[in-house]
Amino acid sequence: MKLPNANCALCHSETPPSERPKEQVCVKCHGDLKTLGSKPIPKGTVNPHLNHVEELYCRDCHHMHKPSTNYCEECHDNKFLGMKVP
Ligand code: HEC
Ligand code: HEC
Ligand code: HEC
Ligand code: HEC
Repeated sequence: MKLPNANCALCHSETPPSERPKEQVCVKCHGDLKTLGSKPIPKGTVNPHLNHVEELYCRDCHHMHKPSTNYCEECHDNKFLGMKVP
């Protein structure tokens, strides 16, 4: 995905960045899966943030420095899910 801006310190606590940021960094700005999952989702899709998968991490889909992927496709055809991961 496209990063909000080039300010590395938004997510990385060390300079220059070297470690993978903790999930808590994302949650501070965006809320946790439960909060995200309570928002309305695009029509004709299933909820990407709140579903039957109990151990789900932001990085399963949103990779920040690499294009996003759809973790759910490991088991489901995306024709059924209709998901587009930003
Ligand atoms: C919106 C949050 C975010 C911003 C802003 C961001 N990063 Fe990252 N960065 C991540 C995440 C998440 C990972 C871990 C990626 C993964 O696990 O695949 C990462 C990983 C990295 C890594 C590799 C660490 C490792 O060994 O896995 C480097 C190096 C890095 N970022 C550099 C930068 C630099 C330089 C900037 C600023 C230009 C930057 N990042 C801005 C979220 C961010
Ligand atoms: C400092 C606050 C901040 C942090 C930390 C942060 N984000 Fe964001 N994120 C934003 C803002 C601001 C936007 C842009 C919102 C918009 O476009 O409406 C955004 C956008 C996004 C989007 C939507 C992109 C799109 O194109 O619609 C995703 C997905 C996302 N962030 C995931 C993450 C993940 C995963 C992490 C942790 C690695 C993270 N963010 C860390 C502030 C943050
Ligand atoms: C199973 C894949 C998947 C995982 C895991 C996932 N997301 Fe998403 N995310 C999506 C999809 C698909 C969308 C687009 C549909 C939507 O907006 O609801 C999205 C949209 C978003 C958006 C933009 C729309 C909004 O609601 O603001 C943000 C921000 C975001 N995700 C953050 C996160 C964060 C933070 C995590 C971890 C706590 C996370 N996501 C985990 C798939 C995922
Ligand atoms: C390890 C395999 C696996 C993964 C990964 C997985 N699922 Fe599933 N999912 C299943 C199975 C098995 C069922 C139940 C059987 C069925 O109805 O197909 C199911 C059922 C569902 C259903 C209900 C279908 C119905 O007919 O009621 C939805 C919605 C769903 N999954 C969404 C998701 C989403 C969203 C993700 C990603 C966050 C995901 N699944 C990831 C295996 C998986």
